[in-house]
Amino acid sequence: MSAYHKPVLLAECLEALNLAPGRRVVDGTLGGGGHARAIAEKIAPGGILIALDQDADAIAEATKTLADVSDAVSVRLRQTNFAEIAGAVAAEGIAGVDGVLLDLGVSSHQLDTADRGFAFRYVGPLDMRMNRDDSDTPTAADLVNMLPEAQLARIFFEYGEESRSRRIAAEIVTRRRTKPFVTTEDLVDAVRGTMPLRTRAGEIHPATKVFQALRIAVNKELEVLETALRGAASVLAPGGRLVVMSYHSLEDRIVKNIFAELSGKRVETDLPDPTPRAEPILTVLTKKPVAPTDTETRANPRARSAKLRVAERRG
Ligand SMILES: C[S@@+](CC[C@H](N)C(=O)[O-])C[C@H]1O[C@@H](n2cnc3c(N)ncnc32)[C@H](O)[C@@H]1O
Repeated sequence: MSAYHKPVLLAECLEALNLAPGRRVVDGTLGGGGHARAIAEKIAPGGILIALDQDADAIAEATKTLADVSDAVSVRLRQTNFAEIAGAVAAEGIAGVDGVLLDLGVSSHQLDTADRGFAFRYVGPLDMRMNRDDSDTPTAADLVNMLPEAQLARIFFEYGEESRSRRIAAEIVTRRRTKPFVTTEDLVDAVRGTMPLRTRAGEIHPATKVFQALRIAVNKELEVLETALRGAASVLAPGGRLVVMSYHSLEDRIVKNIFAELSGKRVETDLPDPTPRAEPILTVLTKKPVAPTDTETRANPRARSAKLRVAERRG
């Protein structure tokens, strides 16, 4: 298996997608192509695999991973955001697909490559964009150097559940007055500057939540997820399966709520008068999310927080 990324819940995803030769499947989060390759083997011969990733590194890696299955299956790789899934399927001239897989978040390659700036444990530019070809997307350094203090605090609190969010935002604003943030180390130092001198053994790294929150903000992960889920449901043929793996409670809540809404169930809302429901187009197949076994988590600690939900397109 490639060192780029070890696929999570692989057998469970393949089963949930209900694959057979000739089927048409979208992998919206190609990464190193681990899931995609296993899907390709199941839909060969004659299947169509549309594979999307917004990161050019993933497209390059998966091109290699999929090279020797591309005789038996039609592989269509595209560097794009999965929010564009409906357009990507239409551009291939396909009216409906039999399955969509979304394996959310970042790959091990992204996390472990210092110059991507995702990880507090490596020194690199404070970047965190999954799509580095999009020069319009502000980097993590841009957000940290430019956003108002209250907005930074809100990002750390909402996306990272960081209880020291205000204190950390204040420290950042004080520091950036004299020197802009450039590297991951600058941010780690600022977070450390707000902590008591000694952290206890076994505690998570003090910058973990701040890094996670910034990554979600830079890539607008929650906003694009909602668009992608609606787009994915719309491109499924009757009986087609939508399989989504999330690694963060906010993501899982969005998946659960959109599945509920599109299957005609009541949606959790703070509003007293929910908007009228549209005709249901999905049936939810997972009452509770599927989680990895202890064996998988021991072999691949990054699988730890995975939650898999599955829905089927109605006829
Ligand atoms: C967890 S990895 C997927 C790993 C993959 N299943 C494998 O087996 O190697 C998530 C991938 O999705 C991509 N990604 C995340 N959000 C995306 C988005 N909004 N649009 C397109 N790709 C996205 C990331 O760049 C990353 O390569």
